[in-house]
Amino acid sequence: MAGRRILDAGCASGPVSAALRDRGAVVTGIDSSAGMLELARRRLGDDADLRVVDLRDPLPFDDDSFDDVVASLVLHYLEAWGPTLAGLRPVLRPGGQLIASVNHPFAVHVSQPPPRPSYFANTSCTDAWTFNGRSFTAAGFRLADSALTTEDPMIEVIPDQAAVGLRA
Ligand SMILES: C[S@@+](CC[C@H](N)C(=O)[O-])C[C@H]1O[C@@H](n2cnc3c(N)ncnc32)[C@H](O)[C@@H]1O
Repeated sequence: MAGRRILDAGCASGPVSAALRDRGAVVTGIDSSAGMLELARRRLGDDADLRVVDLRDPLPFDDDSFDDVVASLVLHYLEAWGPTLAGLRPVLRPGGQLIASVNHPFAVHVSQPPPRPSYFANTSCTDAWTFNGRSFTAAGFRLADSALTTEDPMIEVIPDQAAVGLRA
């Protein structure tokens, strides 16, 4: 792991990047959300290589730039994987690895109310998160990346501070 050049594609607030860096990897994190990268910068520090990049667009890296690409829980956000995978391939050195995880499509399928589309159809879905049985959006809140104000992003999931990161 030490010295491996790793692209964390869809790094969000940087938990995977941090774990890899702690083990000696040289990590570049990309995400389409500037708000998420702001959180990642708080976690990883000012010298972290973090860039706003949409995985649907051409990647701003030279060929053979990375030993590994990690795409943890991000590819299922994309409607079409083909162009993204084709873009990731050349930035990996020959023999480099793409390590990816996605939500299991069955979980998405059964979470939809009937009548469900075909399991094999391309569909999009939205997760409606609730907290203590209450929906933020039903209460009139909307999500705003720039409103994330806690020092530690993980604190946001503690119920007493649940309103942090949401705007009325
Ligand atoms: C569930 S999070 C995964 C975070 C992190 N990889 C992990 O495992 O903890 C998915 C991330 O993918 C990012 N994402 C979604 N679509 C993207 C796209 N087209 N290009 C880049 N990032 C994208 C989101 O902004 C979000 O931060």
